[in-house]
Formats: sequence, structure tokens, C-alpha cells
Amino acid sequence: MSRVLITGANKGVGLQLAKQYSEAGDEVLAACRSPASATALKALPGKVTVLELDVSKAESVAALKAKLGDAPIDILINNAGIAGPAPNKQSSTDMDYEGWMETFNVNTMGPMRMVQTFRSNLAKGTNARVATITSQMGALDLNWPVFYAYCASKAAVNKVMRMLSVDLAKDNIALRLLHPGHVKTDMGGPNAEITAEESAAGIIKVISETNASNTGTFLKWNGQTHNW
Ligand SMILES: NC(=O)c1ccc[n+]([C@@H]2O[C@H](COP(=O)([O-])OP(=O)(O)OC[C@H]3O[C@@H](n4cnc5c(N)ncnc54)[C@H](OP(=O)(O)O)[C@@H]3O)[C@@H](O)[C@H]2O)c1
Repeated sequence: MSRVLITGANKGVGLQLAKQYSEAGDEVLAACRSPASATALKALPGKVTVLELDVSKAESVAALKAKLGDAPIDILINNAGIAGPAPNKQSSTDMDYEGWMETFNVNTMGPMRMVQTFRSNLAKGTNARVATITSQMGALDLNWPVFYAYCASKAAVNKVMRMLSVDLAKDNIALRLLHPGHVKTDMGGPNAEITAEESAAGIIKVISETNASNTGTFLKWNGQTHNW
């Protein structure tokens, strides 16, 4: 049994990750911004603890740390993310700079805050691993000039996590970046390619295969290597 901390666990890919880990008998620390309205999450059977967390706010991350104390954590999944400003407000011709900053705050700094804050818990974990859910949109070789803020935030989190993988190796913590696929969620929309169930199942398999020999790599949910 592993103890798994998941951010943004109330819906989409995060909810499916929480469901599938709990069904497998793992202990899930399911973090979300509004536990009061996380109806589907709270209805999950198994060892699921719903916890309040906004990854964009240092005080919220610190409050979660105070609640969890020194408890070992085996797996941290940085799943929470936002798409950023409306598509026409993050283009080459029009940019919502405040919205871009918030996108960086959630998608790039959020995972960094989580790893920094819970590194000591992970160091006490068994076979400790971090999975950060990024996106194909952050790959530098994708020449598709849309969603500037979102793409930049994911490219940046790729770099930050790649560096962290080197640092975390000192504590025997392995880390991988994962593109979850184009997923039918509120973010991916109804015409996306795969379901959240499929995405989560693939992510869980990739995490189970994550170790010191492959730390710092970027994969797709189905285990294929992703271009940087
Ligand atoms: N869906 C896709 O096709 C796709 C493709 C590539 C990458 N991704 C990535 O996959 C991850 C999951 O996305 P999804 O498709 O499941 O999206 P989603 O259904 O929109 O869910 C996003 C989750 O992130 C949470 N969140 C947003 N801001 C947060 C914050 N400041 N603190 C804590 N939680 C926050 C949301 O909580 P609230 O309900 O409170 O807003 C929600 O639980 C994201 O990192 C996304 O960028 C998705």
C-alpha cells in the first residue's frame, strides 16, 4: 500500500487518479480547493482523506503541511492546473498579463511549492516518487502558436521539474513529467481523444515504473517517451 498525495483531486484526471488508487487499496490524500463542494471525491470508497489545498497560495500549502506533519508520503502527483486566460487573450496579438502570471503561479510554481514543502515527507516514503502532470503543449518542438500563457507555464514546469529530478535523487526520490493525453475533462472538452479513466490508468502504470534509472524523463500517459 502506498500513501498518495494528489492535487486537484475533485474532478477530471485528478478525481480518476484518486478513485483508481483507492480502489487498488492505496491511501489517498486527496487535495482540492473546495472540499465542501467536492461531492464526487467525498463519495469515493476506501482510504480517502479529502484535504483543502490551493497550490497557488503559499499559506494554503503551508497549512496542508502543518496538517500532515512528518507523515511519510510515497507518491506526490502534481495534477492541479488551469488553462489560463481565454484563448483570444493569450495570443500573439492580445495578452492578459495578469492571467498569464496566475497561470504560471498555478501550473509552474504550484508544483515547485508542493515538492519543496513535502520533500521531507517524500524522503521518509517508500520508493518515493513525484509525478508532475504537464502537457504536450509545453514541448518546445511543437510549432503551434496558441495558448501562449498555458504553453509557457508547462514548458517552464518541465524545466523546473527536470532540475528538481537531479536534486531529489540525493534523497532517493524519483520524478517524472507526464503528458496525460488529450482528455475528456472540463479542460480538454467533450471531443478529446481519451477518457479520464484511461488517462489515469496509464499515469498510474507509468508512476509504478518510475525509479532512479528513469528519473527526470518526460512521458505520455501510455508510457511512450515525449519530446522535450
Ligand atoms: N484535459 C486535457 O486534455 C489535458 C491535456 C494536457 C494536460 N492536461 C493537464 O492535466 C491536469 C489535469 O487537468 P484536467 O483535464 O483534469 O482539468 P480539470 O478537469 O479542469 O481539473 C483541473 C483541476 O485542477 C484544480 N485546480 C485549478 N487551480 C487550482 C489551484 N490553484 N489549486 C489547487 N487545485 C487547482 C481544479 O480545481 P477546481 O475544481 O477547484 O477548479 C481541478 O481539480 C492539468 O495539469 C492540465 O494542465 C490536461
